[in-house]
Amino acid sequence: MKKRIGIVTGGGDCPGLNAVIRGVVKVGIGKYGWEMVGILDGFEGLLENRTIPLNSQAIRGLLTQGGTILGTTNRCDPFDCPVILPDGRVERRNYSQKAVQNFQRLALTGLVATGGDGTLAIAHKLHELGIPVVGIPKTIDNDLDATEMTFGFMTAVETVTDAIDKLHSTAESHHRVMILEVMGRDAGWIALYAGMAGGADIILIPEIPFKLDKILEKIRTRQEAGSNFSIIVIAEGAKLGEEKTFIDRDTMTGLPRLGGVGDKLASAIRKRIDLEVRTTVLGHIQRGGGPIAFDRILATRLAVEAAELVAQDKWDMMVAYKNGDIVAVPILEAIGQRKMVKPDGQIIAHARALGIAFGD
Ligand code: F6P
Repeated sequence: MKKRIGIVTGGGDCPGLNAVIRGVVKVGIGKYGWEMVGILDGFEGLLENRTIPLNSQAIRGLLTQGGTILGTTNRCDPFDCPVILPDGRVERRNYSQKAVQNFQRLALTGLVATGGDGTLAIAHKLHELGIPVVGIPKTIDNDLDATEMTFGFMTAVETVTDAIDKLHSTAESHHRVMILEVMGRDAGWIALYAGMAGGADIILIPEIPFKLDKILEKIRTRQEAGSNFSIIVIAEGAKLGEEKTFIDRDTMTGLPRLGGVGDKLASAIRKRIDLEVRTTVLGHIQRGGGPIAFDRILATRLAVEAAELVAQDKWDMMVAYKNGDIVAVPILEAIGQRKMVKPDGQIIAHARALGIAFGD
């Protein structure tokens, strides 16, 4: 029987999502002759019957494009969907049965869901309600445990590295301490990789608690050695004091938005040192733009294997990158388990060997 497969992208956008869509559609149509359907704006599109046909025309030129042509949201969980009432209150509703009904109405055989831990958790629960799903992991944060690397991460690292290179000019010319706050949620992967690639002097990540005195010590040692400037890369989830720093909470989901720790650190350092201290917050620039070659290949290979799982009716599975190959793992294995930087891991030891300080 000819399959009719839906593709959905959920969570934050990420370089490589369009490459994934292209890959799944290419194999689906080209190798298997399936009908492919794009579900718009994450699971919201499934609840509202908003879809587009994904034919060969629709995927033309997608390999290099940033974002997702399907749109995405990290606000719509069909099992726990926030709805704003006329009086401004937010009520949470379970629309999962509607998702199942619409899946049937669309006459779909299965769903390929691309997203982070939130999207994959929803995909697994939908599977339990009878929707056959295959998952593809994505996140610039690289914090999914079941896969060694997620696409989007290396592109984000490239963007942050470029920013550090540019910050070096002002740091050296003006003899300043330049702080760069980067994304990564609770994990320090982006800060660590980009910090190493950009030659940062101090890298501060959530996994390694740090002390202000140690940071000041490193800046002063550099001054004494003739380097009257320092570059600090700090992950948004790094704690200065007891708590993480939040900008605010999302009105719909109530979830905290990380951000602001860079400025907080700058204020703390400024009081104790005779150098000018400035902060740059890179924000969503890290998620933007087209994927670098590594991520195009990774996204494409994950897409091909995801289509193969669909062909073999291996549902409730997710594709993952392990030892240079793409393998299949149960979605359940991938959710709930975060991959954090190991403070005693080899890459940290390498960074320390280079003289990079972690403030501990
Ligand atoms: O998970 C990806 C990510 O970019 C995190 O690094 C960041 O904390 C979060 O998403 C920001 O999400 P939003 O765009 O919804 O504010």
